[in-house]
Amino acid sequence: MTFRLGLSGLEGVPSAAELARLRAGYLRRHCLRLPGFFAPPLLAFLRREIREKDFRERPRGKTGLESYLASQRVLGLLDFLVNDPALFRVVEGVLGCPRVRIFRSKIYRMVPGHPHHKDWHQDTRPWHQVAMSVNLSPGRFGGGVLQIRDRRSGRMLYEGANTGPGDAVLFPVAPHLEHQVTDVAGRGIRMAYAGWFLERPAFSAMLRRSPSPVRQGGAFRSALRLSDRVKASASAAWRRSGKTTLLFGADRGVITELDGVGGRLWSLLAAGSSLRGVCEALAREYDAPASRLERDVLRVAQGLRGAGLLVKG
Ligand SMILES: [Fe+2]
Repeated sequence: MTFRLGLSGLEGVPSAAELARLRAGYLRRHCLRLPGFFAPPLLAFLRREIREKDFRERPRGKTGLESYLASQRVLGLLDFLVNDPALFRVVEGVLGCPRVRIFRSKIYRMVPGHPHHKDWHQDTRPWHQVAMSVNLSPGRFGGGVLQIRDRRSGRMLYEGANTGPGDAVLFPVAPHLEHQVTDVAGRGIRMAYAGWFLERPAFSAMLRRSPSPVRQGGAFRSALRLSDRVKASASAAWRRSGKTTLLFGADRGVITELDGVGGRLWSLLAAGSSLRGVCEALAREYDAPASRLERDVLRVAQGLRGAGLLVKG
């Protein structure tokens, strides 16, 4: 697969030929499978951040329980990355659904011996278009098979366990379909980032943007020098949105927006080089006095560091 999701957003845009191949696979299986959709660095972040103690249980049905991740830190970062219009266009094109504007999610797990199974159901709620489940399980697990069937005839349309690290499965939410995930067996835990692509509301209208990071510079921190090396914080994610770059810091849960030059500056800072090296790279691209570039780079870097998006090192 030529596209996947990483901490710097969607990596690679599927070509027309790949979209056609994905659509053919979807029509054949009644679901779309995206092996390795979550890139290894994103999975490593999730492995570090998702902790046993952050799971809670809530009642489901008469006797069932849902075990879900209560921490918003991880969910906020994933939602920031997945709610990307470029991904929405892929989902619309491959699954042939109306306009997608938001992905609503949760992280849940199924533990052997616990009543975490949910019987056949549909998830048909207003604006729900497509369901997606991404495998975040810490290891191998038995059972936990996704089954999709025709509601009226009971004919099984798809059956498969989503077991590869970061693999995604997408399937339509429609009145004529129903699905379930079978009980897990053995010792392994099944964990997934799962939710629905909806027609509305628009995620873009719900973004909580922070004030300019340039003004957030931490007076409480020591000042950066041109000889310092910096890199993106381990809890920072970013993606392009038209001509702007959106940054998300999981520590604070807010989104920062940078314009074209700011976005270019961020890509240099995040890559991990000295601030002097960043200034030299910018001097080759922009016609500006060196003293002004140095002042601006230091100011923005300090602001991004204060916002928890950039770290020394
Ligand atoms: Fe469901």
